[in-house]
Amino acid sequence: MLSDKIDTEVLDAAGPSLKCVSTMSVGYSNISVDECSLREIRVGHTPGVLTDATADLALALTLATCRLIPEAAAAVRSGDWKSWKPFWMCGVDVHHKRVGIVGLGRIGSAIAKRFQGFGCSIVYTGKSGPKPQEEAALGGGVTWLPLPELLSSCDIVVLVIPLTKDTHGLIAAKELSLLKDGAVLINVARGEVVVQEDLVAALKGRPTLRAGLDVTVPEPLPPSHALLSLPNCLVLPHIGSASNDCRMKMGELSIANVLCGVEGVDMPCECPESLGRGASK
Ligand code: GLV
Repeated sequence: MLSDKIDTEVLDAAGPSLKCVSTMSVGYSNISVDECSLREIRVGHTPGVLTDATADLALALTLATCRLIPEAAAAVRSGDWKSWKPFWMCGVDVHHKRVGIVGLGRIGSAIAKRFQGFGCSIVYTGKSGPKPQEEAALGGGVTWLPLPELLSSCDIVVLVIPLTKDTHGLIAAKELSLLKDGAVLINVARGEVVVQEDLVAALKGRPTLRAGLDVTVPEPLPPSHALLSLPNCLVLPHIGSASNDCRMKMGELSIANVLCGVEGVDMPCECPESLGRGASK
């Protein structure tokens, strides 16, 4: 599971008979792939099958964060719903906003496509620079920007990049200070991409900012955590891929990876860095 850390200690304990590791997730920052490669242990993951489910959740989280869905539903249950009032439970619009996607990979592109359906304009960033193929697949009109420009110009920023040494702490106080008043930060990547204490300070200091987080540090987030006391922050329990169909497919793919790893044949989805020879499909 993505919550299992597969490091030197675990690999030492597993011993030389271990042939492969298969994570039921697309992200594999929980696994020391370099260390596995040194020991000739192959690593599989589950890209592709979770793209649409995760993109759906990113949109749901954005809508819930912007339109106060959890607060509104809670008000019905608690009896706080007394009458229809013009400015009660008013959030911010999603449609026709400018959306910045940080990481235009498979899931990032699927999220961008969904926002296009809401009439939003899309910009994106990523360390490999402009991605003409992905832009064309989205019908053009999608522009690469350096991260600071993206942060300072977007109404909604969606983090959907893999966690690596380069992206660890990518969004810290300086980056958060670039966000426009009223901006919404959505994280469906990994909690570690954001410096969480800096996010807490930014949300406290600028109440017009909002955050919707499907990922945090740690997971589970303790109920007493500062993020959960903030009215402008919505936290979900890492449910990006959590539909029954999607989880079944992820399970099947994880098993197929294990069986192929044990048999020594090509895995359906070996991590790109695994033994230097696998390629995600
Ligand atoms: C979920 O976060 C995944 O990496 O699959």
